[in-house]
Amino acid sequence: MNMSRKPIIAANWKMNKTRSESVSLASAITSLLGPYSAAEVVLCPPFVNIESVGRCLSDSILKIGAQNMHFDSAGAFTGEISPKMLKDIHCSYVILGHSERRSLFGESHHFINQKVKAALCHGLIPILCVGETITERENNQTFSVISEQLEKGLQEVLPLLQNRDIVLAYEPIWAIGTGKVATPEEAQEVHAFIRSQLALLLNQDYAPKIRIQYGGSVKSDNIATLLSQPDIDGALVGGASLEADSFVRLLKNVPIPATVFSGEPLRPTLF
Ligand code: PGA
Repeated sequence: MNMSRKPIIAANWKMNKTRSESVSLASAITSLLGPYSAAEVVLCPPFVNIESVGRCLSDSILKIGAQNMHFDSAGAFTGEISPKMLKDIHCSYVILGHSERRSLFGESHHFINQKVKAALCHGLIPILCVGETITERENNQTFSVISEQLEKGLQEVLPLLQNRDIVLAYEPIWAIGTGKVATPEEAQEVHAFIRSQLALLLNQDYAPKIRIQYGGSVKSDNIATLLSQPDIDGALVGGASLEADSFVRLLKNVPIPATVFSGEPLRPTLF
């Protein structure tokens, strides 16, 4: 974590929680967290629960995001959700290229790149996920895999970044949902590599400003050491975000960067 980048923690609820369960979880998180947080916090419920959760975040500092979207604004794409629809229900963020989308639903680099560009054009902040499998790591392919995901995922993105934000998430696939977290040093090595690639693929000015989250078995007891690394700026949290107690404990363990916040509440969402 670097003092000039506000940490960002996003909760990826995946395909969990009915509408009433989502609302109860969001309410419990906001009441346990209270009015201040050292990090920007984003809840990403399943599509059908975004609006209800968003309403219950109206007076809170938490923001709302989606877990995926299509790149077109409207049209004959049965079963898909457009960026325009997400904006209409006040989403600020959208997770794109999650490894589960890539591996289980066959999403290609090109498809993900189209979504990243569409998100930026519609005023949504993409959280672009990258990461290697255990086999790729063992074969020393981590950097080549990630560099291809970045190069293809960020094609033609630079011109769209004027006054717009993008977040990267490094999620080693072997650490997702396994309880096997990367060591802070292992994660830092890849985060530093991602930042160096961002300088090449985007430009030298953007690279130090872009926040790079770590994801994969992040919990309340490892968040602080992960964030102690200079290029780790937050976390994408699955399992530990499904219960208010564990998620708020994690949020409260985010170190307070004294030079960024002087106890000021973050901006509330639009609801
Ligand atoms: P996990 O999931 O925290 O349960 O490992 C992270 C993710 O898939 O984004």
